[in-house]
Amino acid sequence: METGDFQLFPYPNALLNIITLVGLLSVVKFVSVTTWNLAVGLRAHVWSKMRNKNFVATYGKWAVVTGSSDGIGEAYAHELAKKGMNLLLISRTMEKLQKVKEEIDKESGVEVEIMQVDFSHGKHVYEEIEERIRGKEIGLLVNNVAVILPYPMDFCEVNDHQLWSHVNVNVASPLAMTRMILPAMLERCKGAIVNIASIYSRYPVPMMQIYSASKAFVEFFSVALEAEYDQSGVTIQTITPAYVSTNMTKYSEKIHKPRFFVPTASNFAAHAVDTLGYTRYTTGYWTHGIQAWIFDTFIPRWIWVKLLKMKNQDWKKDMKKTKGE
Ligand SMILES: NC(=O)c1ccc[n+]([C@@H]2O[C@H](COP(=O)([O-])OP(=O)(O)OC[C@H]3O[C@@H](n4cnc5c(N)ncnc54)[C@H](OP(=O)(O)O)[C@@H]3O)[C@@H](O)[C@H]2O)c1
Repeated sequence: METGDFQLFPYPNALLNIITLVGLLSVVKFVSVTTWNLAVGLRAHVWSKMRNKNFVATYGKWAVVTGSSDGIGEAYAHELAKKGMNLLLISRTMEKLQKVKEEIDKESGVEVEIMQVDFSHGKHVYEEIEERIRGKEIGLLVNNVAVILPYPMDFCEVNDHQLWSHVNVNVASPLAMTRMILPAMLERCKGAIVNIASIYSRYPVPMMQIYSASKAFVEFFSVALEAEYDQSGVTIQTITPAYVSTNMTKYSEKIHKPRFFVPTASNFAAHAVDTLGYTRYTTGYWTHGIQAWIFDTFIPRWIWVKLLKMKNQDWKKDMKKTKGE
């Protein structure tokens, strides 16, 4: 063999050859996964911005957004109105819903209907929602509503209402809303369902245990549904945001103050809405995409769980100090 010729097994020692091969395979895996992620990220966050997708023609006339009186849901409502979609906004507090409706009425000419529903009440709330959507061509459902513990706490500190709210709001509502709305979309062979999970659905989070488990439920449900209906003409999208500055992150100033990795709800939604039709699984916001890539690539899950526990213990102390306990 001449000098410079490529040799797959260059060493006489078998162990060194195996180590070299494993090293090579790891590099190939890293480069191909990173290139693929980059391509998906560019399509979702750059290419999508250069297109002006017609949401009404692509998905249908009406959008239903749950938990739309505040935070990400409210911001989604504003963005969808800009896209010309009529809105059915479903949330808990009527005064806040009326304020959102007034703002959207001023900004655009779309029809906005509001509906006061407390999803924590469980199964019976859906009959009334079914009545309200009858006769409407629902093109888009955003399963956004969710609750979280007021601050990190151990499982035995969680009260009954908090426990069942996580089940009824975070877990049951996306199931019930999807079962109500998806069949008509399938008949029309068009429509989209956006399920808002969380970056916390990727890692078990000590002291926010039921929240992260409920978000893992949403993520698994959504990704499985997407595979089931991938040939149906209906798009199912899973969004896994990191921290967004909303009421949900108010328990710690460290994650509530908007900055590079913590967008405001409107900034987040302006990006996330544009990714619809360009990716079926995304954090929704480009800096969150960078965070997710770093976490997934370099930090093993067991280290994450330990880090998140330490962080949450700190934040619990912060909360106690703020409350003077
Ligand atoms: N913020 C983040 O950092 C973050 C990160 C990852 C994922 N997410 C996900 O993003 C979604 C939106 O979160 P957000 O941060 O925008 O939360 P948020 O600011 O707390 O807003 C939650 C919305 O849901 C409504 N809501 C709460 N409980 C309800 C109930 N029982 N029945 C009906 N409506 C109810 C609230 O209504 P009222 O307050 O008006 O009563 C509000 O409109 C959630 O799925 C969350 O898990 C958030």
